[in-house]
Amino acid sequence: MNSAIGPQTKVGLIGLGLMGKPMGMNLLKAGFRLTVWNRTASRADELVAAGAKLAASPRELAANSEFLLSIVSDPTALEEVLWGQNGAMQSLQRGSIYVDSSTVSPTLARKVATACEERGVRFLDAPVTGGDWGAKKGELVFMVGGDAATLTEAEPVLCVLGKKWFHLGPNGAGQTIKLAMNLILALEVDALAEALALVTAAGLQGEKLVEVMQSSMARSGVLDIKSQNLLKGEYTPSFPLRLMHKDMRLALELAQQIHVELPATEAAFGTYSTVKEAAKEDLDYSAVMKFWKK
Ligand SMILES: NC(=O)c1ccc[n+]([C@@H]2O[C@H](COP(=O)([O-])OP(=O)(O)OC[C@H]3O[C@@H](n4cnc5c(N)ncnc54)[C@H](OP(=O)(O)O)[C@@H]3O)[C@@H](O)[C@H]2O)c1
Repeated sequence: MNSAIGPQTKVGLIGLGLMGKPMGMNLLKAGFRLTVWNRTASRADELVAAGAKLAASPRELAANSEFLLSIVSDPTALEEVLWGQNGAMQSLQRGSIYVDSSTVSPTLARKVATACEERGVRFLDAPVTGGDWGAKKGELVFMVGGDAATLTEAEPVLCVLGKKWFHLGPNGAGQTIKLAMNLILALEVDALAEALALVTAAGLQGEKLVEVMQSSMARSGVLDIKSQNLLKGEYTPSFPLRLMHKDMRLALELAQQIHVELPATEAAFGTYSTVKEAAKEDLDYSAVMKFWKK
């Protein structure tokens, strides 16, 4: 298999959700020979119209890919596309590179790495940050676990999708850092929601708190962006609540495995869980504010 990656490389992409579809568009724009697969085939229509091929299964896709990329919801979804019926793992090509950008557990990332090693496939766990906006602009940031030389080889693809990548350690390291990052986001937004509930219950306008915060030490990009959702009560998914809830659960599971207590995360997880269970539609994670709006 040709290991020098360039536009002639056959790239496969599994998962065409909020993140995967714009990533696919950027790969096509950069001239890669792209084949895609998605559980709901109709989500591939736009990419197929733009020049991508559609594979009949993850297995068929992997058999024809020199570089495979996946970005699906959660651990169950990743196991399904790799080891389910017509899964990709059985046909991944010796010498190929496989990069998974889903956010899953570090344990699953290491399990995938072991299976890949047995097949002579080089694997990187490379979850991303930057949201659907970063995916569209090709400005994602990758948190990478795995072999440094494989990362260097993968760079011609990563540089089309993102603006930066960090090599963080062996397989699983990318996922560990990603879960830690999302804990900060989840706790920050939950803290803002709680503070707004206090301010409004005391008879003041929430906007006053945000205005003061924006010129103080408490200023943060996340709070600036999400405060508008919280004040307006508009929760159109940018980063869906169901995915943030999954990431908090994965972080708490990791903490348990390595014997670390995360009491603030446990408490915030309870609040996010209440809102998620009551939600009737797909909401952004800033909908944690609904806890106080009941
Ligand atoms: N959205 C963000 O801002 C953001 C930012 C950073 C990282 N992430 C992470 O990136 C990953 C993808 O996020 P997203 O926002 O693109 O999610 P999404 O819009 O919900 O898309 C999820 C994708 O996973 C597929 N999928 C789900 N369950 C499956 C199963 N059992 N078998 C096969 N495919 C399955 C979906 O297929 P269908 O189309 O058939 O449902 C879809 O392609 C997640 O791990 C998320 O945590 C997201």
